[in-house]
Amino acid sequence: MPATTPRVLTDEMIEEIRALFPRYPTRRAVTLPALHIVHQRLRHVPLQAVVEIAELLELAPAEVQDTLTFYGFFKQNQPHGRTRLWVCRSISCFLRGSDEVLRHICRRTGVQPGQTTPDGRLTIEEAECLGACEFAPCALANDALWKCLTPEEADRLLKTLK
Ligand code: FES
Repeated sequence: MPATTPRVLTDEMIEEIRALFPRYPTRRAVTLPALHIVHQRLRHVPLQAVVEIAELLELAPAEVQDTLTFYGFFKQNQPHGRTRLWVCRSISCFLRGSDEVLRHICRRTGVQPGQTTPDGRLTIEEAECLGACEFAPCALANDALWKCLTPEEADRLLKTLK
């Protein structure tokens, strides 16, 4: 008998996704919110979760996978760190030195954008405009916006995430 892959969606996640059904015109329209629910709990959406979401939404797994891979926000292969640090790389921040700040953060943490520190504490991400261009360069961590970043300020930021 072939081994079955253990299920990854918890009853709570399934309930939360089902609770969205009356609020959307079709089950397909629940794809994105369902991905967010799972991503928030697991810090990634593994392939098995894609299969289970598709089952719930009565879609083909490829349809859910298409949505997932369209958005750079979702991780699939491994969970992101406990904190995701988003450093803005869009034009205003870039012109005011975000690349230097990002390089500094990468040097300090020993990981590159998209990677997670070995202790699972932090994932460094490059962000598109965070909507705070007047405070460029800026970054977002745990819902806190860090404004007018310098390498020194970035060190302070990293300390708060320990
Ligand atoms: S360009 Fe960075 S916040 Fe807008």
